[in-house]
Formats: sequence, structure tokens, C-alpha cells
Amino acid sequence: MDILETRVDTNSETYRANYRAMEERVEVLREELRKAREDRSEKAVQRHTEQGKLPVRKRLEMLLDPGAPFLELSPLAAWKMYDKRIHGAGIVGGVGVVEGREVMIHANDAMIKGGTVYPMGVKKSLRLQQIAMENRLPCINLIDSGGAYLPLQSEIFPDAQHGGRVFYNQAWMSKMGIPQITAVMGLCTAGGAYVPAMSDYVVQVRKTGAIFLGGPPLVKAATGEEVSAEELGGVDVHCRQSGVSDFLAEDDEDAIRIVRQIVKRLPKTPQIPVDRQPSRPPLYDPKEIYGIVPQRLSQPYDVREVIARIVDGSEFLEFKSQYGSTLVCGFAYLHGIQVGILGNNGILFSESAKKATQFIQLCDRDHIPLIFLQNINGFIIGKQYEEAGITKDGHKMVAAVSLARVPKLTVVVGGSFGAGNYAMCGRAYSPRFMWMWPHAQVSVMGGEQAADVMVSVKNDQLVRLGEEPLPPEQSDVLKQAIIENSEEESHALYATARLWDDGIIDPAQTRDVLGLALAATLYQPIPESDGFCVFRM
Ligand code: COA
Repeated sequence: MDILETRVDTNSETYRANYRAMEERVEVLREELRKAREDRSEKAVQRHTEQGKLPVRKRLEMLLDPGAPFLELSPLAAWKMYDKRIHGAGIVGGVGVVEGREVMIHANDAMIKGGTVYPMGVKKSLRLQQIAMENRLPCINLIDSGGAYLPLQSEIFPDAQHGGRVFYNQAWMSKMGIPQITAVMGLCTAGGAYVPAMSDYVVQVRKTGAIFLGGPPLVKAATGEEVSAEELGGVDVHCRQSGVSDFLAEDDEDAIRIVRQIVKRLPKTPQIPVDRQPSRPPLYDPKEIYGIVPQRLSQPYDVREVIARIVDGSEFLEFKSQYGSTLVCGFAYLHGIQVGILGNNGILFSESAKKATQFIQLCDRDHIPLIFLQNINGFIIGKQYEEAGITKDGHKMVAAVSLARVPKLTVVVGGSFGAGNYAMCGRAYSPRFMWMWPHAQVSVMGGEQAADVMVSVKNDQLVRLGEEPLPPEQSDVLKQAIIENSEEESHALYATARLWDDGIIDPAQTRDVLGLALAATLYQPIPESDGFCVFRM
């Protein structure tokens, strides 16, 4: 493979200004992550501690192998939603290592509104399950939750992708042979009682852990029976009488110890065979990405400079380097695993789409995971390009991305606009994992273009009615409102709050995040090829 030569001048004024701007954005990200981890009311901390329960992060620390990385997912879910303090949507989740095995962890944070489940919490739980299913990762649930957040029950209960889906998925995971272990470390009420019930292994903590379909207040209201949570669904009921729980733990620490023992003896899942080499760092410092990425999304930059800072030895075998040059495709090793990389260097033309289609087919046939580096305004538009069939060439790429069997990982390293989002494996195209950089944006088109379109539609309407088009000052007001709205809604924090991605990452950590994610994808066998769809020629 060839070494990618850098053209970046790290002494230039532009580089320094870009660097500072990205540093500031990363600082904002770190601060938001810190708040999400630490901002808890004194009352909640006190209540949790007096019950003898450990904070959720302490539980995780004890569960995970010491020193092993934890790939936290969607830590800023529900950012600034609800009362602005439902950090992480009340759940800590991610891929961690327990007894040497990669597992999916889902843990309620009972210091956030009693661990109750908000709409974004349901979405996050379902996403964590989806990742576990797609990658065959055993699941560990640390439950400590007051169940549905009742004031928003209509947004989490009745629909197909609401609460009930969690238990539906659990039945499927059990059938698929994906082990599920639940530690009951607080309440499992109503629907929540089905999380342990549907699990393969249940560990219940004495005194604090309780499972029931209706809690004491509901039982009293319904039948007049007065009963404490422990009498209704504590360890004496479920470990001795009902048989709902399988293991009795004396406290949180004991429960974690038992969970680790269960994981230790699970059958080992073999990794799929992939082409590997010993991992080597890139030749260039990944942090230089800060200075490479321009401050304005509209300003192009060479994605090869990013590739050079995430792949082993900065080595890259570029595919069709002279053809369809607005999309860079090529092979590299990332933390020792061979990958196929697709990175945008401009708008997608017919040639770039056809090149991508061929490249994806090659990687799919040869079992090479795909990495998409998205920085895309969309496909080229205009009469000339329609005549040449841009729509059917775009279709080929979108179809190939949809049907590729190999693991796909996406990082939005700039803009993600229009159909370019689809072709470059946006959320709807089932990347196994997807991240955004702090300056990235996602929307159907940029704010300025959307504003121009809306003004032009309005003017056409007025002319049709025999009226004058909007005067400049009125069209400016209309435009400004659309631009402001678009800026807010396309921001990476807005996107991550709504789980349109799996998290915002520091660009300097892209290589390591991708490496961890790739490792997590290697337990799912790649299905036999049964071909692609009909390609429109
Ligand atoms: N919906 C909405 N809010 C809830 C809630 C629910 N199901 N359960 C608890 N909360 C809120 C409380 O109002 C409180 O809010 P505040 O901090 O703004 O005052 C916060 O969560 C903590 O609850 P609190 O009762 O003070 O803490 P706790 O540690 O003593 O108990 C629970 C936590 C979850 C065990 C307890 O609140 C409880 O039993 N909740 C009801 C559970 C239930 O019946 N759920 C049925 C849902 S299907």
C-alpha cells in the first residue's frame, strides 16, 4: 500500500485558526459530557445513597474489566430535552469488556427521576438492543427504574417502536442465542418487570431489588391491600417462592460479582475470519485533524488528509484514483483489520456513484468491513446530469450500500445533506455504528439553500395569484427564520439528542472509536451472498 503524503502546512495561519476552532468545539463537547455524567440533584444523590445503592457509574466501573475501554453510546441522548436534566435519557449504555468478552451494557441511572423511562430512553434502549442483535453481543441490564415516566406515557407505550418492543426484542435475542443477564438493583415495575422476566439470567439484590407488575401504590388503589415493595416483589418472593429470580445478591457489589461469574462461563462466540495485520499507529498525529477541517462546512478539504490520520501506517491503496474523483475509495488497515473506506471529496457525480457501487461490491464479496466518511452536499443536479442518468447511478450506489452484508461504520466528518446522506450510509442504511464530529451537520439541505427554495416557492405562488413577488426585506425576514431554524435543527448536539447517531466524538479519537467498534462487529457471521438487487443500467 502507498503512504499518503500530507500537504498540510501545520504552521499556516489557516491551520492554526481551524485548530483553535475545533479545540473550542471539543471543549464544549467535553463540558456537555461532564454535565451529563455529574449533574444530579442533591436530593437524588442523598436518596440513592441512603438506600445503600451505588451510583450507576460505580456499578459500571465494578462490572467492567479493569483498564479495558468502554465504548459509551449516545451519552448525550435527550440533550436539552424535557427539563434539560434527563442526561443520557436516564440510561448509561455501551459496549464494554467483562471477563474478556465484549458485551452490551444497559444501566438505568436512578438518580435521574428515579430511573424512569422517557421517550428518548425507550429509543436508546431499542438502539442498544439493535446493536446487540446486529453484532451478537451478550446483554447485561442493570435495572433500577420507576418504569414509564407517566406524564409522557402516550409517547412511550402504544406504538410499534415503543416500550413493548424492548421485551419483543428480548424474546428474539434469547432465540438467537444472545445471552441476556439482568441484575435487579432497584425497582422493576409494571412493563419493567418484563426485563428480568424475559432475560436468561436474573440476579436480584436483597432489600433494594424488587419486581412486580403493579407497585404498592397501584395494588392499594386497585385492591385495598397494603404491602411494602419488599413484601410484594423482594428476594424472598422471587428467589424463594415465585422462581422469577435465579440468583440472590446481598448488595450491589455482590450482584456485580455474580453477573461477572455468569458472563465468565458463557459459551464463547467465535470471531468471523477477517484479514488482519499487527496494528500500527498512523504516521501523522490524529490531532492534526483539528487544523485540517475548515471552520465553514461549505469549504472543501481533502478527505485523504483525514484517512492518513486514522489508518495504520497512513497507508492506503486507492481504488480508481483518476475516476470519479469526488469520492475517494480505497483499502487500508485500521487497528490491524482490513477495511474499505469511502470518503467524500465533493458532490457525488455519476462516475463517483458507479465507482462506489463497484467498490462496495468488491468489499462485500471479499468480507471487508466498510467505513464511510460523510462530508456531502448531495448528488449533482441540473438538466445535463439528469439526461446523463444521475438518478439511476445514484440508485446503484444507494442499493449497494443498502444490501452490503459486511459491517458498515459511518462517521459524519462535515455536512450530511440530502440524498448524499443515504448514499453514504446515513442512519436509515443500518450502519452498525454511526458517529458525528462536533462541527458536523445533518439535514435535507443547507439552511441557505432551504431558505432560497422557500422564497422561490412563495414568489411563484404570488405570481400565480397575479401579485408582486416578496419585496427584498420580506424575503430576508423569511430567509433568516428558515436559516436560524435549520442551524439549530441540523446541529450535531440536536441530532445526537434525538439518537440520529450513536454519539458525537472528538475527531482525534476517531481511529480508536472505529477500532473498538470494528472489534465489536466481528461476532456476527456474514450471511451467504444471495446477490444484489436489480441495478438500473
Ligand atoms: N413517572 C414520573 N415520575 C416519576 C415516576 C413515574 N413513574 N416515578 C418516580 N418519579 C419521579 C418522582 O416524582 C420524583 O421526582 P422529583 O425528583 O421531581 O420529585 C423522582 O422521580 C424520584 O422519585 P422518588 O419517589 O422521590 O424517589 P425514590 O428513590 O424514593 O423512589 C421509585 C423511586 C421509582 C422507586 C418511586 O418513585 C416509585 O415507586 N415510582 C412509581 C413506580 C411506578 O409505579 N411506576 C409505574 C410506571 S409503569
